[in-house]
Amino acid sequence: MSRGSVNQVVASDAVVGEGAVGTPFVLAHLSDPHLGPLPRPGLRELASKRLIGYINWRHGRHRVHLPDALDAITRDLRAARPDHVTVTGDLVNIALPAEFAQARRWLESLGPPADVSVVPGNHDAYVAAAGLHRDRHWAPYMEGDDGRSGSAQHSVGGGEKTLFPYLRRRGRVALIGLSTAIATPPFMATGRLGDPQIARMAELLGALRTLFRVVMIHHPPAAPPSAHHKRLIDAGAFRQAIAATGAELIIHGHDHVHALASIEGNGGRVPVVGVPSASAGAGIKHHAGAYNLYRIGGGPDDWSCEVVSRGLRPSGAVAELNRYALSWGAGPFGGNGATRNFNRNASGTDR
Ligand SMILES: [Fe+2]
Ligand SMILES: [Fe+2]
Repeated sequence: MSRGSVNQVVASDAVVGEGAVGTPFVLAHLSDPHLGPLPRPGLRELASKRLIGYINWRHGRHRVHLPDALDAITRDLRAARPDHVTVTGDLVNIALPAEFAQARRWLESLGPPADVSVVPGNHDAYVAAAGLHRDRHWAPYMEGDDGRSGSAQHSVGGGEKTLFPYLRRRGRVALIGLSTAIATPPFMATGRLGDPQIARMAELLGALRTLFRVVMIHHPPAAPPSAHHKRLIDAGAFRQAIAATGAELIIHGHDHVHALASIEGNGGRVPVVGVPSASAGAGIKHHAGAYNLYRIGGGPDDWSCEVVSRGLRPSGAVAELNRYALSWGAGPFGGNGATRNFNRNASGTDR
């Protein structure tokens, strides 16, 4: 299929959810639900990297990612009535076909595909065959306004096959969904965008400068990565592209912690914000389940964005944890792009 030009995509009038000027656009962001309980895998399904992931789940992860915690978070998120919801990957654990169907039902509980945007994480590409099931169940949630599905397994260096990034315009907000999801060897949780995807992202960002441009990506792109084995391999090329085009906000998951960093943009720093796993129970060593609301106001050259983090308290109730305003000046978050995590916990290997 031939790809539309950037101008065709940008000029699309498929604008959904446009609010009146002056009314903040509220974007919700949650990530890494790692939905449980894990369906019972067949023996043939375990004859792969999945076996290690399954053992991992049975020996610990099932005590971290709790359905009750995720229910509380999604209930609170729905009550906040955001204009749009983003999910930045790792919906499943070991990429069993039944997990993708289960995740589809959970997505439907968040909202219809037009109101919920998904990008995949490394667990959603746990084995090479995962792409097939992901496309079958999640495609409408990863589709651009031009009707082109961005759900195909993105190919690294694959030209026409590269269906990510996808673009959705919602009022003054442009949502650009990237895929870093590649199958990796056991004990690796790396991600890769590939040059064609980065180039296409740069084209879109360059053409959308009058909108509040949000880049959705699973792996955190700021330097340095929290661990070598789970890094975004071509984060440098990504940062180079952002330095040339700018963006207003980059949101991610993967590290399972609250994080705030910034990278060089075009004329200012670009905030990079991460959230914990939405299903992490309270009272454990990881950050408890949480999500962010971004209240976006203003207009070109005068944007405002308030971040409200809400998450689980030890009591099991969901409450506001943090509230701050983003800024795009020189080095508001430490200047060198270093990530500032809140009560960071760097343990664990398989995010
Ligand atoms: Fe991840
Ligand atoms: Fe994860």
